[in-house]
Amino acid sequence: MAKLKFQNHTFTLEPYESVLDCLLRNAQTIPYACKAGTCQACLIRTIACEATAESKKWIKNALQDKGYTLACQWLPEQDVHAALPTIEEFSVAVLISELVMLNKSVMRVKLDVKDPAEMFHYRPGQYLSLINPDGIIRSYSIANSYEKDQCIELHIANTEHGIFTQWLFKSAVVGMKIHIRGPSGTCFYNDAIEKDQVLVMAGTGTGLAPLYGIARDALTHGHSGPITFYHGGRSDAHLYYREQLLALQHEFPLFDYRPCTIDASSDPAVLTGRLEQIVEAQLDSSHLQKMRFFLCGAPTFVFDMRKRIYLKGARADNIICDPFTERNVTPT
Ligand SMILES: Cc1cc2nc3c(=O)[nH]c(=O)nc-3n(C[C@H](O)[C@H](O)[C@H](O)COP(=O)(O)OP(=O)(O)OC[C@H]3O[C@@H](n4cnc5c(N)ncnc54)[C@H](O)[C@@H]3O)c2cc1C
Ligand code: FES
Repeated sequence: MAKLKFQNHTFTLEPYESVLDCLLRNAQTIPYACKAGTCQACLIRTIACEATAESKKWIKNALQDKGYTLACQWLPEQDVHAALPTIEEFSVAVLISELVMLNKSVMRVKLDVKDPAEMFHYRPGQYLSLINPDGIIRSYSIANSYEKDQCIELHIANTEHGIFTQWLFKSAVVGMKIHIRGPSGTCFYNDAIEKDQVLVMAGTGTGLAPLYGIARDALTHGHSGPITFYHGGRSDAHLYYREQLLALQHEFPLFDYRPCTIDASSDPAVLTGRLEQIVEAQLDSSHLQKMRFFLCGAPTFVFDMRKRIYLKGARADNIICDPFTERNVTPT
């Protein structure tokens, strides 16, 4: 059976076992979250060996060329040697410059980059990995343009029992230094999108963050087609950024903001019902083939919404999804 050498230890890999699972089985400390190739928290560096193409395909070419790969996607069949990257490797130091509650459970986090020369380019809607001082890594979607605002804006939901979010909500303070890696993800306003294409954006909870970034990016780039922006929450108290979205609607008549809640709202402007049912019911079938969809937030919503609009007639390559997949934790 193949052997895995990792920080002065050697472990035996079980058949079809990933490097990440082998390290976790042997009680080694390695950051991870999704185990699905998405969050890139489990990035490791290969030493004098070659990782499989499958495990490398998820990361940028520049990282592949330097020998990095994803431990959760690497199932070696021969002896291998790997090490954890240090915090300095391809991460950027940032300072928390703002922590503001947007509703009872969502916090806006703003980050100032310590050395702007180190900052990487991204498009709003992509996500980055936040690394806290304990080395815990989680993905968060970017709600704004760094070039425009000179800071990074994230919207983070307080998650009961969640390791990263409990640290953020209880211990993080303005001025604290953390690190970011990125960017990742293909959910953004692509310059190849036709300027007059109909865009439909729908998100639950903090799924608003990437959508808000994408909508503003589209409008900044002169998008001239209608943009319908759906945001869903359980009740009025779960909606946020209503003022900002109404201001955008006022400034750009082609931008149409439609808040939705499951519980009936006292505000007649808020639609009542499940977001996926409302969006499906309001879609104009005759234009579906040409519409481009951006779906963000809870994975159950994103996958259900994608299925509904695909079955209704939308083209699969016009549906861009950003499910906020969480670490799979078995409650103790
Ligand atoms: C591409 C991408 C983009 C994302 N963007 C955003 C974003 O913009 N905003 C945002 O808020 N989130 C976003 N997320 C989700 C985010 O990455 C984290 O998964 C989320 O914040 C939870 O992290 P955590 O460390 O607090 O929870 P974890 O510790 O990772 O826990 C994961 C889940 O397990 C549950 N759990 C843990 N321990 C227990 C226990 N003992 N008993 C019962 N349940 C338990 C937690 O409640 C939680 O639901 C994104 C995810 C991805 C993949
Ligand atoms: S990419 Fe490996 S744990 Fe998320």
